[in-house]
Amino acid sequence: MPVTAFPDPLEPLRERVRLSFNRMLEESSDLLGEIGLYGFHAGGKLLRPLVFLLDLECLGRPLGDQDIRNSLVFETVHLASLLHDDIVDLSSTRRGRRTAHLVYGVPETVLAGDFLAAAAGRLAVDTGSLGFISRLQESLTALARGALSELQARFKTDLTEEEYLKIIRAKTAVLFTAAAGGAAALAEASAETEALLVSHALNFGLSFQIVDDVLDYRADPGKLGKPLHQDLKEGRITLPFILARDFLDGPPLARLLELGAKTDKSQEDLVEINDLVLLGRGPERARERAGEYLARALKALEPLPGSVRLRELSILSLDRSS
Ligand code: IPE
Ligand code: IPE
Ligand code: MG
Ligand code: MG
Repeated sequence: MPVTAFPDPLEPLRERVRLSFNRMLEESSDLLGEIGLYGFHAGGKLLRPLVFLLDLECLGRPLGDQDIRNSLVFETVHLASLLHDDIVDLSSTRRGRRTAHLVYGVPETVLAGDFLAAAAGRLAVDTGSLGFISRLQESLTALARGALSELQARFKTDLTEEEYLKIIRAKTAVLFTAAAGGAAALAEASAETEALLVSHALNFGLSFQIVDDVLDYRADPGKLGKPLHQDLKEGRITLPFILARDFLDGPPLARLLELGAKTDKSQEDLVEINDLVLLGRGPERARERAGEYLARALKALEPLPGSVRLRELSILSLDRSS
């Protein structure tokens, strides 16, 4: 029997964001906008603007065109960070096609990322809310720091779970919390309600990045739209590795540490590390952790009756193989 996919109930909202984002990039009819459009390529899940919009929905706001426009801030920053991230990570594929820097060149793509960050600043200023602007600014600082600390932790096979969490909080979860804080600022939510939305966003962001890190070990690269073992190749020590390492001992542990620290890993090395991490049940344990963070995220939403679709988004996004 053919498998029929359920229609995504959030698709109409996604489409509104997608169209609005495309329009914004098309307005800049130069190479910078073109690189942005190429990177966007209608391929993303638009999670961060959706978190912002569904947070507003939680706060009882009917979603108008201005809200959609404001939500673009978070996708704009996200796209800028992806353009830069693929340069830092030396990645060759994103959203199923060649990365922007391979098509347009590294300097041009760095500048397109800067341009997008500036465009996000413009959108934020247009909200007229200092609270919104300051939450965005904090996230930009955290993103840069997170990316740097991740870089500095490469090949550090003794990276602890706490250190890893600190990195992913800064590089990923903070943009989710900025979306939550931004929604709270615009809707003038109470400090108590904002704390719930931020707690949801933080825990959702952490669980989301952990799942992404698990996918580096066992995803189907066709579905993922980005290559397998990219993190491993670049020396990135992520939660599946950490949890497998803490479980293994004896010769498998020694071998994992030896291979993990190698700066020029061959294809055979990658396969061997992958096998050792699976032996230590790293992906499985990391998935469990992601489940724990998701549970915390959902718990934070319990007092908010309007959070049905936000809960749905959180659960569906974690259940992804792509
Ligand atoms: C990719 O984010 C970077 C991570 C934080 C894992 P997404 O998985 O949200 O990327 P797109 O926007 O859907 O392509
Ligand atoms: C997310 O981390 C990068 C940013 C937050 C910019 P990853 O490096 O894991 O993202 P992917 O796997 O390349 O999408
Ligand atoms: Mg990357
Ligand atoms: Mg990744």
